[in-house]
Order: sequence, then C-alpha cells, then structure tokens
Amino acid sequence: MRPLVAGNWKMNGLTAQLAEAMMLADGLAAGTPPVCDVMLCPPFPLISALVHVVKGRSILVGAQDCHAKASGAQTGDVSAEMLADIGASAVIVGHSERRADHGERDSDVKAKAEAALRAGLTAIVCIGETAGQRAAGLTLEVTGRQLAGSLPKGATAANTVIAYEPVWAIGTGLTASTADVAEVHAFLRRRLSELSPGNSDKLRILYGGSVKPANAKELMAVPHVNGALVGGASLKAADFLGILLGYRI
Ligand code: 13P
Repeated sequence: MRPLVAGNWKMNGLTAQLAEAMMLADGLAAGTPPVCDVMLCPPFPLISALVHVVKGRSILVGAQDCHAKASGAQTGDVSAEMLADIGASAVIVGHSERRADHGERDSDVKAKAEAALRAGLTAIVCIGETAGQRAAGLTLEVTGRQLAGSLPKGATAANTVIAYEPVWAIGTGLTASTADVAEVHAFLRRRLSELSPGNSDKLRILYGGSVKPANAKELMAVPHVNGALVGGASLKAADFLGILLGYRI
C-alpha cells in the first residue's frame, strides 16, 4: 500500500506561506520521488491558490473540515462539494482540535466523512485518546469506539484514511513510543477488519503527533503505520522534506 504523508497547516499561513509549498514542490522534484503520496491541507482561504501553485506537481491538496450538508443556510460553513469544486481531493474530519473546540461527536465526524465521500473526496478520519484516557488504560477502548462511530458508510481504501493522533502528542513535542504506536495501529487494523471487511488490510492508518524529521523514520517503520499526519513540521518545506526523506529510496 502506498503511504500518505499529509501536512495539516491548521490555522496558520497567509498567502506568503504558499512560497513554502513551492519550495516543497521544488524539493520533491529535485531528488528521487518519494514512494508515498504527499498532501498539504491549508486553511480554507489558501486552498484555491495552493491548488493553482501545485498544479502538475506531485502534491495533493486537502482541507481541514467540511459541513455534512451539500449547501444551505449554514453561515460560515463550507461543504465538501465546495472543496471538490475548487480542486481539493481530500478533507480531514474529526481532528481532536475540532472535537475539543467545536464539540464534534463521532456521529458528526461520520456525517462529515460521508459528505466527503459523497463529493468524491478522500476522508481523513482522525481519532485519538487524551492523556487522561491513556493514563486510565482506556486507549484501545476510546480509539476503538471513535473508529466504529466515525467511519463513514462505504469506506474503502480508495476513499478513506484513518489518522491516529494521540491528543497528548499533538503540538507538545511528545510522541508515543514505537511500542505504543504499534499496539494501537495493530488494534485499529483488527477493528477495521470487523468494521469494513474486504478493505481492512488496504486502508491506510496514519500516525500523527509531533512527527519531526528526527523521529519520522522510526515511526513510519512501525507495522501498520502507513504514513503521517504532520502539524507544525509541515509549515516549513525543509522540515517536511526531512520527514519525507524516509520515503525516498
Ligand atoms: P503536530 O505535528 O504539530 O504535533 O500536530 C499534529 C496534528 O495535529 C496533525 O493533524
């Protein structure tokens, strides 16, 4: 299965940030192409411009959220159809920051993921436990429940990606140990075989949470880790290229 390394810019980046995307595209073109898909997910206002900037280059463009409905009286929201219309090919749904800051529940995440599939986008469905849940020994219970509750109907390896992002590892510089990552990813793979028989062994499961050039190779080598969802280190082309180095052979 071809891994995916996606950069989530979160609420960072004015138009000047597009220069980093150009540097990333140039950096990718300069060496042997990485044996993985590469994606950037900028804030909404930069999507159109980024699609234009990376046209013909080997970088996919995704969004960070969408509404479940195709259109309507939802002030301030953006639909999956709108994202597809401007050239995005994927959308992150259920990121822990949206679950925490906007009260998104598994059922909301599932509806958004299904909207993504309806619009022809790849849904990148995020799950992950908090520090308290891990300390209480609830990691597998929580991530298993989130996976079952958030997985869109009709999920296939072609239209859905899972991202395991332990909340306590996001933006903290802390990463899960390779043993912890291995345990959760193997568990998610088993759960997928129950939830989505036929697709389970091909669906990509990304790891996210303080992935940096210094730890990417080790994390990406863990069984059932099929790429990364990268926050802070995706904002600088040099850092992101450093993470992608592990996929250049
Ligand atoms: P960091 O890589 O900054 O920890 O963020 C991870 C993340 O939340 C990606 O979606």
